[in-house]
Amino acid sequence: MLAFAYLLILILCNCCNVLVSSLNDEGLALLSFKKSIKEDPEGSLNNWNYTDETPCSWNGITCKEQRVISVSIPNKKLSGFLSSSLGSLSELRHVNLRNNKFSGSLSSGLFKAQGLQSLVLYGNSLSGSLPFEIGNLNYLQTLDLSENFFNGSLPTPLIQCKRLRALDLSQNNFSGSLPNGFGKNLVLLEKLDLSYNNFGSSIPSDLGNLSNLQGTVDLSHNMFNGSIPSSLGNLPEKAASCTTKLGLETTICEKSIQN
Ligand SMILES: *[C@@H]1O[C@H](CO)[C@@H](O)[C@H](O)[C@H]1NC(C)=O
Ligand SMILES: *[C@@H]1O[C@H](CO)[C@@H](O)[C@H](O)[C@H]1NC(C)=O
Ligand SMILES: *[C@@H]1O[C@H](CO)[C@@H](O)[C@H](O)[C@H]1NC(C)=O
Ligand SMILES: *[C@@H]1O[C@H](CO)[C@@H](O)[C@H](O)[C@H]1NC(C)=O
Ligand SMILES: *[C@@H]1O[C@H](CO)[C@@H](O)[C@H](O)[C@H]1NC(C)=O
Repeated sequence: MLAFAYLLILILCNCCNVLVSSLNDEGLALLSFKKSIKEDPEGSLNNWNYTDETPCSWNGITCKEQRVISVSIPNKKLSGFLSSSLGSLSELRHVNLRNNKFSGSLSSGLFKAQGLQSLVLYGNSLSGSLPFEIGNLNYLQTLDLSENFFNGSLPTPLIQCKRLRALDLSQNNFSGSLPNGFGKNLVLLEKLDLSYNNFGSSIPSDLGNLSNLQGTVDLSHNMFNGSIPSSLGNLPEKAASCTTKLGLETTICEKSIQN
């Protein structure tokens, strides 16, 4: 009888152990992200295993103090949807899924990860518009959505991303005018590439306030109309003289300056 009770306790304890050692919430969120991936031809996510306690040893995942801070899986031919479950990773700072085959739209749920500093999705097949919730990302420094099929106009709250240093939206199908206050608010911008879209209306004169632009300013291959604001002449010499591309009317200099 005593032996039986002992055994029971042992079994219960083992159960407890299993509970304690099961995958944490962040791991579960990542498995839900994995579930929306239809194809992973190179098996890049093969070691994303339910039996681990944390996802910190998984391919593409970086943790700090056991919290996921980075999801970086570039160039892996991943196809499927981009699950918004990444948005529940509260300490997430970097997402790099460039050069894959993700399709569908960006869900606003992704922007619940308010500490995001870089979001690099270039070279996928994403479509739809950029959600208003992008404005929640007060720490965002790099936004690269180039070479996708995004459309619609840029949401005004984008100008709340005041720490943005690099904004590359080139080769999409964005349209409409740039949000009011674009140049006045995004004062830390160092790189701006809006080329190959359908942006229209006039170029806002406050672009000339972007005094940190150092390398590329590329506004070419859009439908901007009206005159070129003279304030663009206020841009730092490097940006203004060599890499400012506005369209057919102005000089096009192919050289881009790397510091
Ligand atoms: C997950 O890990 C367990 C234990 O390490 C291993 O037996 C199992 O094969 C792994 N599963 C996958 C899908 O890799
Ligand atoms: C964006 O593209 C979708 C189809 O992908 C279309 O339904 C929608 O009308 C487009 N929106 C704009 C503003 O062009
Ligand atoms: C881009 O949008 C325009 C309308 O704004 C539409 O006529 C065109 O087909 C779109 N191009 C692509 C590649 O979706
Ligand atoms: C520029 O485009 C906007 C909208 O696309 C239009 O309302 C405006 O009249 C155009 N201005 C000029 C000078 O062509
Ligand atoms: C830059 O911004 C200031 C105020 O924020 C404004 O007074 C000034 O006219 C702006 N310059 C340009 C070129 O837009």
